Amino acid sequence: MSDDLPNRPFDDRDGVIWLDGEFVPWRAARLHVLSHGLHYATSVFEGERAYAGAVFKLREHSERLLASGREMGFEVPWSAAELDVATRELIQALDIHDGYVRPVAWCGTETMSVSPRQAHVHVAIAAWPWPHVFTPAAQQQGIRLATARWRRPAPNTAPVRAKGGALYAIGALARQEAESAGYDDALLLDHRGLLAEATGANLFLVIDGALHTPVPDCFLDGITRRTVIAAARRLGIPVVERPMAPAELAAATEAFLTGTAYEVQPIRCIDDREFTVGDIGMALLKDYQHTVAATARSTGA
Ligand SMILES: Cc1ncc(COP(=O)(O)O)c(C=O)c1O
Repeated sequence: MSDDLPNRPFDDRDGVIWLDGEFVPWRAARLHVLSHGLHYATSVFEGERAYAGAVFKLREHSERLLASGREMGFEVPWSAAELDVATRELIQALDIHDGYVRPVAWCGTETMSVSPRQAHVHVAIAAWPWPHVFTPAAQQQGIRLATARWRRPAPNTAPVRAKGGALYAIGALARQEAESAGYDDALLLDHRGLLAEATGANLFLVIDGALHTPVPDCFLDGITRRTVIAAARRLGIPVVERPMAPAELAAATEAFLTGTAYEVQPIRCIDDREFTVGDIGMALLKDYQHTVAATARSTGA
């Protein structure tokens, strides 16, 4: 993966970050060690992509940030429209063409109680150039996943619909174990043992020429997932959303992941089950690339 610049930590870069309504120098965008969000995971975030200077589905991402805050029990103190403006200004100030945007909201230092009710909610938006997650070769050949021993929790155990820091502890555990074992990412099952998703992307399987994908009832219903389902239907590919058991991997010819960062990423294998990088996945990848490029052109960026 090429999402980190070599030898350059994320707090040591040039440029500006939008912090609580102002643009501040990148290195000055700091928070205190006694921030509630750091101790108790009262934080939510977004991952957005700019294509040709315009963020794809910006409003949906901004609205999801607010909805994630509510799931975590706090209000993000900006409207989606205000966050959209800040994001556009930031992209322009940094002169980003193809890049990644990371808005984050967290509870501050006013309380050390587990309850964040007294805490102020802060918001920052950072962005940096970032053309692709995987190399073109990896994108073509597919990535390798290992099934994790960690699972997506039940909806009465965690705020499963939030894109919140709390949920990413599971992904962090799963992903580092998969990488240590030589895989690119982890596949997570859910609390029932059904197929769920990867650590930062949704799962699709091609079975008998149709697209099958798990119902997102205990994990993130990705914006890319919804975009790809709509594209498949437009292209005449049947789409079936249903609970799926791991044994069904045996019937799949193709498998791929969808996400803002991954776009449409073919999977070469899950554990020892191999897949071909096939026509349906590649058609949906091309369609997605076409859609993001056309959207960027139409926003006039
Ligand atoms: C856990 C998880 N699932 C799925 C996704 C895909 O969501 P989206 O397509 O909205 O980026 C992401 C990425 O945001 C994620 O972090």
